[in-house]
Amino acid sequence: MTADELRSKYIEYFVSRDHAQIEGRSLIPENDPTVLFTTAGMHPLVPYLLGEPHPAGARLVDYQKCIRTGDIDSVGDPSHLTFFEMLGNWSLGDYFKDGAIRMSFEFLTSPDWLGIPPEKLGVTVFAGDENAPRDDESAAAWRALGIPENRISYRPKEDNWWGPAGTTGPCGPDSEMFYDIGKEPCGPDCGPGCSCGKWLEIWNDVFMQYNKTEGGIYEPLSRKCVDTGMGIERTVTILNGKKSVYDTEIFAPVIAAVLAAVKDTPEGKPYNYGDDPLRDRSVRIICDHVRSAAFILGDPRGVSPSNVGAGYVLRRLIRRAVRHGRKLGVETLLPVAASVVEKFSGPYPELKQNRDYIMGELEREERKFLETLQKGEHEFEKLLPNLLKDPKRIISGRLAFKLYDTYGFPIELTEELAAEKGMTVDRAEFDGAFKKHQELSRSQGGQAFKGGLVDQGEMAVKYHTATHLLHRALRMVLGDHAAQRGSNITAERMRFDFSHPRPMSPDEVKRVEAIVNGAIQQDLPVSVEVMGLEEAKAAGATALFGEKYESQVKVYTIGKGPEDFFSKEVCGGPHVERTGTMGRFKIQKEQSSSAGVRRIRAVLE
Ligand code: ALA
Repeated sequence: MTADELRSKYIEYFVSRDHAQIEGRSLIPENDPTVLFTTAGMHPLVPYLLGEPHPAGARLVDYQKCIRTGDIDSVGDPSHLTFFEMLGNWSLGDYFKDGAIRMSFEFLTSPDWLGIPPEKLGVTVFAGDENAPRDDESAAAWRALGIPENRISYRPKEDNWWGPAGTTGPCGPDSEMFYDIGKEPCGPDCGPGCSCGKWLEIWNDVFMQYNKTEGGIYEPLSRKCVDTGMGIERTVTILNGKKSVYDTEIFAPVIAAVLAAVKDTPEGKPYNYGDDPLRDRSVRIICDHVRSAAFILGDPRGVSPSNVGAGYVLRRLIRRAVRHGRKLGVETLLPVAASVVEKFSGPYPELKQNRDYIMGELEREERKFLETLQKGEHEFEKLLPNLLKDPKRIISGRLAFKLYDTYGFPIELTEELAAEKGMTVDRAEFDGAFKKHQELSRSQGGQAFKGGLVDQGEMAVKYHTATHLLHRALRMVLGDHAAQRGSNITAERMRFDFSHPRPMSPDEVKRVEAIVNGAIQQDLPVSVEVMGLEEAKAAGATALFGEKYESQVKVYTIGKGPEDFFSKEVCGGPHVERTGTMGRFKIQKEQSSSAGVRRIRAVLE
């Protein structure tokens, strides 16, 4: 069975069980600053899971494109992907555990549908803890369908609980379905959910029956919901008796495109896929990452590679694919991206519609990264004669840090180049230097921050931080062209001018407000570092166009960490220490300021 057939069958089954088919949504969450990407089919449905009535009814079904980068280091093994498709069905206060489990079982095992032999299935249910009891109801539903007790595993919250998406909200136990690939059990405790490779998770039924409150209390919900997710790639794998998602028809043309671009080994040995585990893994990583990049670029809410948020993840995916490509002699990833557009434009026509953008951005990012690499490699070569003098053949972490800090050269690449010359890098020292640098910049910045604060009123400082949040939110909603052109702050309000060719729609205004308020509610830390202007730009900091800067500048970062920040701007400060103190952000007016420049007046309430 192909992915296209599985998608159709799933929709057909649930429509025949009174579900309304709804459209999958964008990969970039529309109103939710808490996540960079849509990670599950339930994501766009959160308001409805929280109680809002859905216009299509109480039973829904769809297919949804998803990105998850949490397991990026496992990509290339038989089952992990950064982009995948999820099939889902929902009950909004309609059927609950018994109904959901019955339908899952029927769809999986009935010869009219997938026809998987029931003895190949195993399930997990929630084991219970201090917040919620063991999910005996789900276990009973599985037993009633003939799943024997030794194929029902009881697992803790880390494994069998879903949500809430943020820190509060709907959540509940889940019951996951696994396919037994037939391997010997890894030990006496091996059962469904064991990660030894015997059990492949294909579907998850989530039972949203609690609301987690600010105080960490799990309140029972009066309107209980079901949220399910079946992974298309994994299910196609098992239905076709394959060992790996990459061996399915889903990836066949993409793998073929990678292999067509691969050169012989440097020693002139031809390479056949399947011959060499390291090279094979690189092929799969390229295949996965380019597919993800093409889908992110091709999304209607298009993102481009950058150093913030979703753009940064996109950049990392492309750059990682380029790096693996270089190992195989691949000159460009463009034909691989073309194969993705070709293969997936049926269910996702946006890929074809945005083909030129996908190709153009990918090419630009490839070129940029190659320039960085060349610069770094050149420096490395210059240093090499000296490095080779070290009898231990260890490159100091300090030097590796300098390459990173000055040339933006990824540590993994320094390690790779070192390995090629039979050397290693002192990674612990690198990590130490990295940390020290961060602390130093913080404490320097901290002094500057204090100095600034005494001169400024509390409200003005809050408004100042609000300009950064607003700037970022405008770019997220309108695009990167929405750059700041000026601002004016009093203790009562802020004005903010930015480039944009037309009035914002009421919906855009609402979305911008929601993003700013989301960042405030997350109580993000604000930190400051002092660095060279070029370095700041390389780190992705936004600077005000046309402004004159000193050679050393302060860079304010709002967000959780160096890779997970909401905003980064060159700025004199001062700013609040955490966003949670700022109050509620409200746009009062959006009007023209001059040709191509809009002006927002906003308050913190
Ligand atoms: N939201 C659930 C999951 O992604 C179904 O596993």
